[in-house]
Amino acid sequence: MPGSLIDGRWELRAPIATGSSGEVVEAVDPASGERVAIKIMRSELMADPVAVERFEREATATGSIVHPNVVRVLNRGRHRGRPYLVMDLLVGETLEVRLQRGRMPRAEAVAVVQQLAAAVDAAHARGVIHRDLKPDNVFLLAGPKTAVRVLDFGYARLPEQMVGLVALTSPNALLGTPLYMAPEQIHATHGVDARADLWSLGVITYELLTGRPPFAAPTLADLFVQVLTAPIPTPRSIDPSLPPGIDRWCNRALARPNEQRFPDARSMADALTAVFRPAPRVPPWSLWIVLLLAALTLLAVSRMR
Ligand SMILES: Nc1ncnc2c1ncn2[C@@H]1O[C@H](COP(=O)(O)OP(=O)(O)O)[C@@H](O)[C@H]1O
Ligand SMILES: [Mg+2]
Repeated sequence: MPGSLIDGRWELRAPIATGSSGEVVEAVDPASGERVAIKIMRSELMADPVAVERFEREATATGSIVHPNVVRVLNRGRHRGRPYLVMDLLVGETLEVRLQRGRMPRAEAVAVVQQLAAAVDAAHARGVIHRDLKPDNVFLLAGPKTAVRVLDFGYARLPEQMVGLVALTSPNALLGTPLYMAPEQIHATHGVDARADLWSLGVITYELLTGRPPFAAPTLADLFVQVLTAPIPTPRSIDPSLPPGIDRWCNRALARPNEQRFPDARSMADALTAVFRPAPRVPPWSLWIVLLLAALTLLAVSRMR
């Protein structure tokens, strides 16, 4: 593939990753030197209409969400029949790769969750459900500041008005990635709503804070059973130095009945931030008592004169 121009402009250079649906390749505009990442569908999948539809859906979903924490789509099209997606070239690593080196400092973990939550809510506000949130689809930009970009809306569910832009969805047996998948995604492909993403965000947060996902099983069947029924070890049973409120937060984030979860990603992130906020040393009401005593003293002194 190297050497062929995409969009009449982009020269493909080094491969970045080969995923389930496409190859992600770095490309450069030789005229301006501008660099991008192009995800182009793997040619051997072209015969599979479901794979083509999934790829087109990703382009539609990602392109529809303009948000600082979602990878920016610059263009889409077909190159010799193969669908492609031109994106900002991200420099850094996925959260998956980052976590292999161990836990991150807590403040950074909370910042990652806040940014992920902002991206998730932005997608939900557009009616898009990601359905495959997991550390491999979360990119951390290199640099001194925590900067997150959500990738890969290949499994996304689109709102009705966008579905017309892509081929009709064939009933997919199983969507998402089991470890991060909500119980209702395992049960059924129907009736899965935005709250499934909130569950995945809960699993990612759990892993960020404890260093391990809440579920681990030798087989896929065992994993499903765990996600559906097994008691989830409380974060503090894994790391007692975590703040007390974290277990309650986790009960809510990973509530199996989706109506018991947080209402949106923002409230999840805000509640998490509150859990990590250092408790004020002096309770706020004690300040009022001090002020009152000072006022009374002043009054008493002025009377004595
Ligand atoms: N815009 C980008 N810039 C840099 N690397 C990217 C970009 N998009 C994806 N990647 C890399 O390619 C990998 C696969 O991309 P992804 O969209 O998740 O495809 P797949 O559907 O194959 O999982 C990502 O995990 C990431 O490492
Ligand atoms: Mg991916």
